[in-house]
Amino acid sequence: MALTRRALLASSGAAAAVAAAAGVGYAAGQEGDDAAPHGDGHIVGFHGEHQAGIATPAQDRLHFAAFDVTDGTKASDLRDLLKEWTAASVTMAGGQPIGSGAAASQIAPPDDTGEALDLTPANLTVTFGFGPALFDDRFGLAAQKPAALSALPDLPGDALDRDRSDGDLCVQACANDPQVAFHAVRNLARIGRGLVTVRWSQLGFGRTSTTSRAQATPRNLMGFKDGTANIKLEDAKALADHVWVGDRSDEPAWLRGGSYLVARRIRMLIEVWDRAALGDQEQTIGRTKVIGAPLGGTDEFQTLKPKTLPVDSHVRLAHPEINDGTKILRRGYSFTDGLESLGELDAGLFFLAYMRDPEAFITLQNRLGAHDALNEYIKHVGSGLWAVPPGIKPGGYVGDQLL
Ligand code: HEM
Repeated sequence: MALTRRALLASSGAAAAVAAAAGVGYAAGQEGDDAAPHGDGHIVGFHGEHQAGIATPAQDRLHFAAFDVTDGTKASDLRDLLKEWTAASVTMAGGQPIGSGAAASQIAPPDDTGEALDLTPANLTVTFGFGPALFDDRFGLAAQKPAALSALPDLPGDALDRDRSDGDLCVQACANDPQVAFHAVRNLARIGRGLVTVRWSQLGFGRTSTTSRAQATPRNLMGFKDGTANIKLEDAKALADHVWVGDRSDEPAWLRGGSYLVARRIRMLIEVWDRAALGDQEQTIGRTKVIGAPLGGTDEFQTLKPKTLPVDSHVRLAHPEINDGTKILRRGYSFTDGLESLGELDAGLFFLAYMRDPEAFITLQNRLGAHDALNEYIKHVGSGLWAVPPGIKPGGYVGDQLL
């Protein structure tokens, strides 16, 4: 069924009608929303126990933005902005234009920029995070800062561009249509004008992970299947053990049911990789290229025994058995941004991963950054860490238990 925003508007109204048209309960919540159809033309509910866009089947497109709060913004302004962002996100996830739409008055700029008007809701999810710097002395939040929310330490092999790292706030918009994801971030930035500025942003054009058993494993720009051994939304225990912040005494109450998000802009040295023999490529990853089976195996999903793989292969070094059971939920995207100054492609993997404790990423990247054979072909050039508040109840707003 073709479900465009125009059709949604024409069908009079509000969220309930939208939901009925899409065949999903509007407030039914997103993640674990197994009953909801996934794919173009459908809606992922914004509300729920956890924010949408984490354990939601990974959509195909990404627009990610990190924001800084401008000088002079007060805590009350920030709270109002989060309320407005929440309302706009609910509206956009429901496939409707913001406010009075794209054409209310001839004498004022429209409430909605309009470029998503004839498009489907495309499974849009908008996920928000709070960076370590938000908890400095500007908004009175210092006492609420989670102990685990500090800027990531220097990690082996880092070649970070600080202009493409960090940020007071982050927004991850994922959708199955690039224009829908773009529209979401653009309109949030527009709503926040004067209070926040975009510090950096990243478009992603192809998911590099599966987050549901119902999804086929996609390929990253190195041509390898990526996401085979990822945490899947059907595995509630793995999500509880490794992704959602729980109720341990060292985990702040406002973050329970939330998560931590690590972003890394990882450039692939594609020209170098393309000159590597197939055998070297497979030894580097530790899996076969076409099937994605562990080296020596024949099936993508057969049990991987890390200690049988080359000592410096990526999947051996990243495997939970080598890292005291550490696991993360990967949700990254491929990117390509033209050429570097030396004429090489500026392309790679925009790595996004969710975890209950950022220490999981630090453990993995300390090992990978120092020993991974993949390091010959990649460079970590951007980075950020955010605390991702839990899901929002109808009538609530992002971070309402903090601000
Ligand atoms: C451009 C950089 C990277 C590329 C091309 C890449 C590629 C891959 C591929 C092809 C797999 C095997 C398929 C799968 O199980 O998903 C994999 C697995 C994995 N990667 Fe990466 N990866 C990159 C960066 C990272 C980083 C930075 C981390 C974490 C710090 C990481 C953590 C993992 C983990 C945990 C696994 C699953 C290991 C297992 O349990 O078997 N990867 N990666």
